[in-house]
Amino acid sequence: MLDPLWTAVDNELSARLIPEDDALTAAVRSMEAAGFPAIQVTPAQGKFLHLLARSVGARRILEIGTLAGYSTIWLARALAPGTPAGSLLTLELDPARAAVARANLDRAGLGDLVEIRIGKALDSLAALARERREPFDFVFIDADKAHVAEYVELSAALCRPGAIVIVDNVVRNGRILDGESDDPSVRGVRRLFDRLAANLSLPSTVVQTVGAKGHDGFLMALVGG
Ligand code: SAH
Ligand code: DHB
Ligand code: MG
Repeated sequence: MLDPLWTAVDNELSARLIPEDDALTAAVRSMEAAGFPAIQVTPAQGKFLHLLARSVGARRILEIGTLAGYSTIWLARALAPGTPAGSLLTLELDPARAAVARANLDRAGLGDLVEIRIGKALDSLAALARERREPFDFVFIDADKAHVAEYVELSAALCRPGAIVIVDNVVRNGRILDGESDDPSVRGVRRLFDRLAANLSLPSTVVQTVGAKGHDGFLMALVGG
């Protein structure tokens, strides 16, 4: 379901609060040109992620699911001036998408700040645990939903206490209500809810969203709560 009113309101909010932006516009165009699905966050959601990352003073950010780097641009811009190169790490399975994202980030002047790691996120997260990097302050999870429970747990283990983890698409038009569903995305999100309900060190909530991308939701978890 996509109510035209949600899109109209989203468009009005974007027009009023989110100025035209060449780098973001070019990133969306690049997706159209490459034939990628238009599953990037909306401008209002991207700015929400940006403000949230800024509000926790994020110095190291992890993103799972890059696509063409649209949300990555919003997040990289949340890093304070002078943040070291490679402070935002984004994980993407598809090399063609990573290449388009690289071009978009370079065009946005954010190329040095962002490292794109190609491969299955589960493999990259396991490698990161071995590398023992500095902990992350903010995580945005937006890749395949079948593994979202693992993504939250593995990425939270790479975070400092007080870090925030956001997960996109945890409502999907209410499809997550169906406990009998055999859709791996629905099952994955429901499994995430089961695990979080039993995990006192990751207090969490979901804010439902409506807008140009339909009815969905952002899950938020606080690491070490
Ligand atoms: N965050 C982006 C949208 C990401 S779409 C934005 O808002 O602009 C989800 C992306 O996750 C796709 O590009 C897809 O190729 C990638 N993906 C899917 N499965 C993955 C996996 N197992 N590991 C890493 N990336 C994956
Ligand atoms: C899909 C994935 C997303 O991350 C999203 O925000 C919307 C749709 C999808 O795979 O259909
Ligand atoms: Mg998404």
